Amino acid sequence: MKPVVALFFGGRGPEHDVSVVSARGIVEHLDRSRWELVLVGIDRRGAAWTGGEEMLEADVGTRGTRVRLPSDPQDRCLREAVGGEPCSPPLDVIFPVIHGWGGEDGKLQGLAAWAGIPCVGAGVLGSALAMDKDRARRLLAAEGLPVVRDAVFSGEQARDAEAIARAVEDLGWPLFVKPARSGSSVGISRVDGPEALAGAIAEAGRWDGKIVLEAAVNDPREIEIAVLGHREPEVSVAGEIEPHGAFYDYRAKYEDAESKLIIPAPLPGDVLRELRSYAVRAFVALELQGMARVDFLLERSTGKIVLNEVNTVPGFTPISMYPRLWRASGLDFSALLDRLLELATDGAHGH
Ligand SMILES: Nc1ncnc2c1ncn2[C@@H]1O[C@H](COP(=O)(O)OP(=O)(O)O)[C@@H](O)[C@H]1O
Ligand SMILES: [Mg+2]
Repeated sequence: MKPVVALFFGGRGPEHDVSVVSARGIVEHLDRSRWELVLVGIDRRGAAWTGGEEMLEADVGTRGTRVRLPSDPQDRCLREAVGGEPCSPPLDVIFPVIHGWGGEDGKLQGLAAWAGIPCVGAGVLGSALAMDKDRARRLLAAEGLPVVRDAVFSGEQARDAEAIARAVEDLGWPLFVKPARSGSSVGISRVDGPEALAGAIAEAGRWDGKIVLEAAVNDPREIEIAVLGHREPEVSVAGEIEPHGAFYDYRAKYEDAESKLIIPAPLPGDVLRELRSYAVRAFVALELQGMARVDFLLERSTGKIVLNEVNTVPGFTPISMYPRLWRASGLDFSALLDRLLELATDGAHGH
């Protein structure tokens, strides 16, 4: 019997559409002679649906059957929301390809652990840590990794004009304002001077009650490295993004074919070695498992490196960096999916 893979996609977050494209990439490349596939689409309101591949061609929630997710280790099937009839075989492993809220932040990982179903990628703790730019940065800095200077404001603090003015004085212009837990550049602004600051803080605050102000890296090169494995993970070659536009924002990422990926990134050997060792140290410091993409900013004029962020559910579209970095490192998309699923199901970790 082939193990049953439940591919979760869509979700309540702003990266819903990207997730559907990632799911198509996985469906196209999953080796069906080894794995049985069950699709689980999460619509924008959080309801779960299952059905055939036509689900990937229309808005989630307009095709298929509305289901309840398993939460009982003795009953790992999807069940009809109305009536309760089983409408899938028992799920053997969850592949979460929901970026951001719900799928990348530990919530789905918690549900999977509760139901006794292994899940590809980081567990509850690692997912939640990596998702939070503030908490992740504290741990990365404690590990001795280079990170940008920042100031964090939660809830009421984001309305404390004096505290913000002090932070800005320390950070200098330009700076970046970000929701602490978001993704795909949603809610992020680069602010070049005082006029635009209040608007940027309000925009970040729409997405998260905690916001991060960061010193900007001047004219950065954007370098990304993929990590795969558990305690002694493998690292890929490096890739570089050439954004088309002021910074690598949502449009540049998903709508603008002018943003190019250069794989492998042209880097001196010692710099590449340094980045690869930082990527593994970050993976370990955040207690990650399975997969992660570690993103760096390199100041073009000085070569100074900062580790910008770690993504635990990277994009899986056919043009996404994570699968392309592995292909360039000798592991094609299907073999990569096999590895990730084997890592999740081999019982080597149990959170
Ligand atoms: N401190 C910074 N200095 C320079 N550019 C930055 C900085 N922070 C973010 N950026 C730019 O904004 C983009 C999105 O920021 P990032 O922190 O990666 O957010 P997300 O989690 O949404 O991907 C980056 O890819 C980069 O182009
Ligand atoms: Mg990013």
